[in-house]
Amino acid sequence: MRRKLLVGNWKMNKLNSEAKEFAIASVPFAALAKKNNIDIGVCPTYLSLATVKEFASKDMIVGAQNCHFKESGAFTGEISIPMLKELGIDWCLIGHSERRTYDNETNEKCNLKIKALIANDMVPLYCVGETLAEFEAGDTKKVVGAQVREGLADLTSEQVKDLVVAYEPVWSIGTGKNASSQIAQDICSFIRETLRDMFGDVADGIRILYGGSVKPVNVKEYLSCPDVDGALVGGASLKIDSFEELVRNIL
Ligand code: 13P
Repeated sequence: MRRKLLVGNWKMNKLNSEAKEFAIASVPFAALAKKNNIDIGVCPTYLSLATVKEFASKDMIVGAQNCHFKESGAFTGEISIPMLKELGIDWCLIGHSERRTYDNETNEKCNLKIKALIANDMVPLYCVGETLAEFEAGDTKKVVGAQVREGLADLTSEQVKDLVVAYEPVWSIGTGKNASSQIAQDICSFIRETLRDMFGDVADGIRILYGGSVKPVNVKEYLSCPDVDGALVGGASLKIDSFEELVRNIL
C-alpha cells in the first residue's frame, strides 16, 4: 500500500521570514495529515531550509530543490549533499523541468545526483516530463521513458525502493493548463511499467506523483487515479490556506 504524498515546490519564492511564518502555521495540519496516513512536505529555497526544518512539524518532509553530486570542491554557487544532511534535510528534488530548461540538467547529471543522494540515505524526488512540442509530436512516452531509464541507470531495486518519481508535463506547469487525469494516469502507469521492467516488483511500492497546475479543486481527481500516489505542487503550495486545502481535499 503506497501512502499518499503531497509536496509543495516553492521554487524561487518566499523570504526566510515568510518561510518561517508558513512553517509555524503548518504545524496543525501536518498532524492532521499524519493522522490520516498522508505524507506532506515542502521544498523551500536553500536559504530557508534550516528555518523550515526548525519551525515546521517533525512530520513535515523538508526537501531541497537541487544539490551537487560531489561532496565538496571548486563548484561556485553549488550546495553539496553533506551540507543538506547537516541541516537534517533528507529529501531532494532532482531534474525539475525548470532546471532541465535553464540549467542544463541532463538525464546523466540527474543520474549522478540520484546515485549520490541514495548513497547518503536521502530520498530523491525525480521529476520527469515532456515539453509541449514533444507532447504534440506524440513523443511523451519516448521522452519520459528515456528520462526514467537514463536518470535511474545503474541502480538496484534495493536502492530505488524509497525513491519518488514525479510526472510533470512541462506544458502544464504554471500555465493553468492541466493534463487531464486520464493523461496523468496513462503516463504514471507507463512510468510504473518502466520501473517494473528495470527493477521488478519493487515498482509496486514506488510512489509516483503528478505535477502541473494542481489546485485544491482538482487534486482529488488526480489522486483517485490508481497509479497517481500524490502531487507535486508549485503555485498552490505557496499560500498556507491553499496548501491546507490541498491536504484537506485528499483526506
Ligand atoms: P504549478 O503547480 O505552479 O503548475 O507548478 C508545478 C511544479 O512545477 C511543481 O514542481
